[in-house]
Amino acid sequence: MGRILVALLAFSYMSLAVSEGKLLFDNHCLRCHAPGSGKPLSYLKEKYKNDPDGVLELAKRCPWGRGLSEMEIKLIAEWLSGGK
Ligand code: HEC
Repeated sequence: MGRILVALLAFSYMSLAVSEGKLLFDNHCLRCHAPGSGKPLSYLKEKYKNDPDGVLELAKRCPWGRGLSEMEIKLIAEWLSGGK
């Protein structure tokens, strides 16, 4: 049991390291920006490509940034604009 837990922890740590921005987006944003919604992820990625500051600006003004730390918003913005 202990060994399985360690493996699980290691696994979630690795996926966090790979793309924290994506994880955060999945948890906090995807429910409103899913495929088929008015502004799906694909639209956001296209519009904000190479423009993390644009996302940051919006995140500060809009209710959807609420509850997230600046660090988390930054990670999301970087991921969204970098497409990784
Ligand atoms: C409660 C639903 C909801 C959640 C949660 C949400 N959004 Fe949104 N978001 C919207 C809606 C609705 C719009 C469209 C507003 C408009 O067009 O006036 C929008 C617009 C945006 C835009 C601007 C799109 C444009 O046209 O330029 C960005 C960027 C964005 N959201 C990013 C995010 C991020 C990042 C998160 C997670 C931190 C998030 N949203 C979470 C509902 C949500």
